[in-house]
Amino acid sequence: MTRAASLADWYVQHGRHELPWRATRDRWPVLVSEVMLQQTQVSRVLDAWPGFIGRFPTADSMASEPPGAVITEWGRLGYPRRARRLWEASAKIADEGWPADLEELPGVGRYTARALLAQCDDRDVPAVEVNVRRVLQRAEGSVLTERACETAMRRWGEPLTGRDRLLALMDLGATVCTARDAECPRCPLTDRCATRGVLPGETRAKQAPYRGSFRERRGIVMRRLRSHRSGISTDDLDGMALSSLVEDGLAVVSRGWARLP
Ligand code: ADE
Repeated sequence: MTRAASLADWYVQHGRHELPWRATRDRWPVLVSEVMLQQTQVSRVLDAWPGFIGRFPTADSMASEPPGAVITEWGRLGYPRRARRLWEASAKIADEGWPADLEELPGVGRYTARALLAQCDDRDVPAVEVNVRRVLQRAEGSVLTERACETAMRRWGEPLTGRDRLLALMDLGATVCTARDAECPRCPLTDRCATRGVLPGETRAKQAPYRGSFRERRGIVMRRLRSHRSGISTDDLDGMALSSLVEDGLAVVSRGWARLP
């Protein structure tokens, strides 16, 4: 058995096939999952995604409601600009259909566009998120640009392509070759791996502390706007946090009253 075949075997046996957004190839629910997963842990997305997709099963169903409905349903997932941009993306899809270049959708960058093509259309397009990047950098033994990772992904993923290659390498990074640890004896790439462990100089994405942050102040205002649908007097809200929410399209103010858009 070749090494590459064993990545495929590893994936069949140990991949996270039960994640609910993997049961569909429909672009809309997969886009929603990817946007949620951009800055939120899988365990929290598992709690939120089913109800959210039940509420907004299609782009049309979301576009027919005001952005405030999406922001409310987004609830406590955090980084609510994602909810606003998802609503904008739904409006564009409802109006014009899916663009040929998915990066034209608000909130969709290179990774998300390529992850949709790979997962939903099984296109042979490498897509590099944090887990994939960690695996490839450790395997190659050097810090790589996103483009270099895409090239490396084709090689390390062989003979897998498209959807299976993305999900196999992602799952390897999420469960075996993790940020905290590298469980090399369980890894199908270990024989060819340059580092067999953590790469020196590897950066770990750290989220800024929430307590006492401006993000927390915005979060407090958002929570109050969500629970007072008819509006709240601006005198009762943190003015700086509120203006930054207005700038982001997450709140509107009129005649001294603030509410969701
Ligand atoms: N399945 C598909 N995309 C994913 C992601 N970004 N994180 C976890 N599981 C996924």
